[in-house]
Amino acid sequence: MSRPILIAPSILAADFAALGHCIGQVEAGGADLIHVDVMDGHFVPNITIGVPVVRSLKRVARVPLDVHLMIEEPDRYVDDFIKAGAARLTVHCEVLPHLHRTIQYIKSLGAQAGVALNPSTAVSAIEEVAGDVDHVLVMSVNPGFGGQTFIPRSESKVRAVRALLDAAGNDAPIEVDGGVDSTNVARLVAAGASIFVAGVAIFGTPDPAAATRELRAAASGAAGTVTGGSAAAR
Ligand code: DX5
Ligand code: ZN
Repeated sequence: MSRPILIAPSILAADFAALGHCIGQVEAGGADLIHVDVMDGHFVPNITIGVPVVRSLKRVARVPLDVHLMIEEPDRYVDDFIKAGAARLTVHCEVLPHLHRTIQYIKSLGAQAGVALNPSTAVSAIEEVAGDVDHVLVMSVNPGFGGQTFIPRSESKVRAVRALLDAAGNDAPIEVDGGVDSTNVARLVAAGASIFVAGVAIFGTPDPAAATRELRAAASGAAGTVTGGSAAAR
C-alpha cells in the first residue's frame, strides 16, 4: 500500500516575527501541511504559541494547519483550536484518560484526529483506538524543542504502529516528528510512515523552499511511493 508523502514544515524553527513570509517560502517549495507546535510549559518544558497565533496563520496559509498539542488537559482547548483553523489536531495519549472520547469529539467538529506517542510510550497505549484515529504521530525526539537528535528506535516503532493500524483495518497515515531530515526519511518511509514534520532541516537552512523539495525527493526515492504536493489532509 503506498500512501502520498506529505511534508509538514514545523514553524517552531521559523522566525516568529516573519511567520507569514516563512509559510510562503515552504508553500513555494511544495509543503503539504504547516505543522504548528503548541506547548504549555507543563506537559513539555517549553512555551510556544496558542489559539490567536493559529487564527492568524489560518489567514495566510494556503495548505492545512497540522496542530500538535503538547499540553495538559487538551480537551479544554480542542474547540478553540479547531475554530481557529486547525484542520488536523494531534493530542498526546499520555495526558488523556478518555482518549476515545477526545478522538470522537475532534472528529465531530470536522477536524482530523491524531494521537501522538512520546518515545517512552508503548505502542500498546493506542491499541484500543487504533480503528478510530485519522493519523498517528510518532515522536522521534522527546517533545519540547526543535533541533534534537533523531532517536533511532523510532524506526521500529513506526513499523509496530503500522502493524497495529493494519490489524485494525485502518489505513490512517503515520506522521514522524523530531530530527527528521534527508538522511533518515527514506528509512521511515520504508517502515510505513508517510507524513514528515521537519523544523531545523527546513527552516534552519538558507533556502526553506529548496529544503522542502529536497526532503520530499529523499522520501519519494524510498519505496516507489506516490508523491504528494497537494493540499490533501492525508
Ligand atoms: C518537538 C516538536 C517538533 C519540532 C521538530 O517537540 O513537536 O515538531 O518542531 O523540530 P526538528 O525537526 O527541528 O526536530
Ligand atoms: Zn510537533
